[in-house]
This record gives sequence, C-alpha cells and structure tokens, in this order.
Amino acid sequence: MKHVISAKHFTKTDILSLIETTIQMEQIKQQRNGRNLTGRIMGALFFEPSTRTRLSFESAMLRLGGQVISTENAREFSSAVKGETLEDTIRVVEGYVDVIVLRHHEIGAAARAASVSSVPVISAGDGAGEHPTQALLDTFTIARELSRLDDLTIALVGDLMYGRTVHSLVYMLSQFSRVRFLCVAPSATPLPRDVADFATAHGASVQIESDLGRAAEAADVIYQTRVQKERFHSPEDYEAVKGQYIIDEHILGRMRERAIIMHPLPRAGEITPLVDRDRRAAYFRQSHYGVPVRMALLARCLEIDTAAE
Ligand code: NCD
Repeated sequence: MKHVISAKHFTKTDILSLIETTIQMEQIKQQRNGRNLTGRIMGALFFEPSTRTRLSFESAMLRLGGQVISTENAREFSSAVKGETLEDTIRVVEGYVDVIVLRHHEIGAAARAASVSSVPVISAGDGAGEHPTQALLDTFTIARELSRLDDLTIALVGDLMYGRTVHSLVYMLSQFSRVRFLCVAPSATPLPRDVADFATAHGASVQIESDLGRAAEAADVIYQTRVQKERFHSPEDYEAVKGQYIIDEHILGRMRERAIIMHPLPRAGEITPLVDRDRRAAYFRQSHYGVPVRMALLARCLEIDTAAE
C-alpha cells in the first residue's frame, strides 16, 4: 500500500494487520521511545480546517522520531492563492518530504495528488468524499471497545450524504461478516446510493430507520455525525436539516448496556454534554486512538519494519 486514498483499498487482512501494528504502536507511544521514522519528514498540507486529524498525524510522526512540516490553512496561505494547481504544489512538496498528508475541499483531490506524487500521499479527507484514516481509527475503536468486527449493527446517524467519515467507515466495515447498517438521516442527506450499493455488494445489509430511539435499541454502535454546514448551498438548507437527531439521556436510556456511541468530532450540538459521563460515550477515547492508528499507517506507508524496533 503506497498511497492511502480510499477505504475501499483496504482488504480485511490489511485492516487486521494494521490493528495489530496499532497495538504495538500504543506501547511505543506510551514508552516514548519511537525511532522507526527518524530522519523522515512528513508534510501536512491542509486546505480545510482540522484539529484532530492534523495534530494526531503530527503527533504520530513525532512519536516515531520523525519530523513534520505543515501548512494548516493552505487554501489561504499556500501558493494556491496565486493560482497554483494542486498537482504543481504536490510536485514541489514531494521534493521536500517523505510522505504527504493532504486534506482538501474537493472530492477526488487526494487521488489527483497521488497520481503525480513520487512519495506516498495519505488522504486526510477530500471534500464530501472520503476520510480513510478516520475509518481506520473508527474500526480500531470498535475492535477495541467491543472486541469484534463481525456481527455488528451500526446506526449511522446525521448527515450521511456529506459526512465523508461515514462513507469510508461503510467501505471498511463492509469487509466483515454479518454487518448491518441502520441509516438514521434527515431526508435531505441520505447515504449516497453508491456507498449503500458497495455495502450490499459486499454482503452487508443497509436499512433506513427514521426513529433514532428504535435504532438505539438495536445498535451495537451509534455513529453520530455533525451536519456538514460548509457543504450546504444555503444557510436555509442547513437550518432545515440540523438538529433533527440528537443523542441525549432519553436515547441513552434506550441503548443496550454494552453498546457504544461514537462520533468523529467536532460535535455541534448533536450529542448533549450530559451523555459524556456515561461509559458508553466512546468519542473522546476514539479521538485518542487516532495517534497510534496513524503511527501504524505512517510506518506502513514508509515501509519500516515495526517489529525491528
Ligand atoms: C471530520 C472531518 O473533518 O471529516 N472530523 C474529523 O476528521 N475527525 C468530521 C467533521 O468535520 O464533521
């Protein structure tokens, strides 16, 4: 695996082996003795806002002894403002670094970047397209919290149309057996047809459920998402969709004892803060798994034998 562009490119074997490497990376992180990537430089090119993804990638690289150069608002502060194409930017930056982590506002941008780059490109989100590394950390979270990746009912809640983390998560979990997705979305933001078709073609089941309470009773995982304000054509369209599905104490009361609530974060009101106290609220733990997961991915992309550490 050279570039990381789509969650569709991960086989079940890749996923399970990355989970294993992540467990080793948790130890390296804890012992603060990572040197696998000493002498390597990661370039983070972010054309869209980010807190978790950029900082966890940077932390992961630093934890492995590597170094980081970064532009956090490339849309305004890079030569893109002067009219430089993404392809030209990549052709230049590939000469400065060993791996490029790219977040961009256009669907397909990561694939375009990869097509001209001689160093690995890792997508950190391409518009409303995909977010494959988030899917990997989400999959790791489920494996860690529920001790399985087969036989799962996952309620996908919120903006399933523009929420790129959902698309990648569906692709990744569809590799496993007896996976059922319950889609709880406002009618204006359903799961895209091609994403649902991929899941069913891989043997997963996809059902629409309009009642969040009913989905909560059935789910092993509730995957809540933010309505992606920045992707709507008008503020009115956004207002019409936001706030329809909120996880509060009432929904908690209907959930299974051993289920978990996940969210890629940031949240914008769709999980009330009172829910945070419940041990089933897994979203902050989920965000912390981002570092060892990205350590595993960076090591994999840079073809370092982690067992040698
Ligand atoms: C998400 C993203 O940027 O796609 N966040 C993340 O990377 N953890 C989700 C979001 O912005 O709502």
